[in-house]
Amino acid sequence: MKKVLVATEKPFAPVAVDGIKSVLDEAGYQLMLLEKYTSVDQLKEAAAKADAMIIRSDKASREVIEAAPSVKIIVRAGAGYDNIDLEACTEKGVVAMNTPGQNSNAVAELAFAMMLYSLRNGFNGASGTELRGKKIGIHAYGNVGKYVAAIAKGFGMKIYAFDPFLKKEDIEKDGVTAIGSIEELYKTCQFISLHIPANDKTRKSINYDLLKLMPKNGMLVNTARKEVIDEEGLIKLMEERADIRYVSDIAPDTRADFESKYTGRVVFTAKKMGAQTAEANINAGIASARQIVAFFEKGDKTFQVNK
Ligand code: 3PG
Repeated sequence: MKKVLVATEKPFAPVAVDGIKSVLDEAGYQLMLLEKYTSVDQLKEAAAKADAMIIRSDKASREVIEAAPSVKIIVRAGAGYDNIDLEACTEKGVVAMNTPGQNSNAVAELAFAMMLYSLRNGFNGASGTELRGKKIGIHAYGNVGKYVAAIAKGFGMKIYAFDPFLKKEDIEKDGVTAIGSIEELYKTCQFISLHIPANDKTRKSINYDLLKLMPKNGMLVNTARKEVIDEEGLIKLMEERADIRYVSDIAPDTRADFESKYTGRVVFTAKKMGAQTAEANINAGIASARQIVAFFEKGDKTFQVNK
């Protein structure tokens, strides 16, 4: 009987775990659940007994992969797989996958929740501003970016996007203006919503030179990864320009400093919660379980990311 470990330091909604369990039950597989674990050793110990793993932002490091000789597949229930050591997976013959698109709407909704919360001053009763008629720049027009565009339409915003991997027409068919350079996007839009992955090319790429191009009352919205921000550059800009706001689902390393120095201009969630909805958990969790079953039963490697 195949054993599938669901290892989530930040647990799925119980209804999503039930859904995963039914997919696995149907296939005759066993669910192992490790939630809210607090040490790598706990993760290694559980992984050592598993044939497959479902994780979220949990770190599938070389150490964890090497401690799990029977694991043949690791599925990241979500989009970003910067938490998986892909090289170690490939060396050990482990297939790594993600579940693209499954939690995207939840992340896009949170981006707007954060923008509104900031524009309405944390709902403290003071007069704020609106989104209607303002320009939003979507930095990377992937699954989340597309949902952001659809929601922005409802708010009556003017929508722009930059994505070097897409053709202009693939962006513009959605009623979104495709912009040819990152600089132009930041120069044009008061609101910038980040949807780039964290990798060697993007780490610290959102830097002072780029951010300083933002128009008056610019707001940077980060529901992607903190690693893509050049924190020193952002601080320099926040110091120079009192009109700039930063809202992020992934608090900076120097969170306390940001919160004390730039009160009213920053919003950070308690814990990354873009994908923290029952719907997103169900979608991504069940997709992960199905991908694992399809891999073992049919050799299906759709969504493999280490090839
Ligand atoms: C993702 O990459 O899918 C999101 O950042 C969600 O991450 P989480 O599953 O840790 O909430």
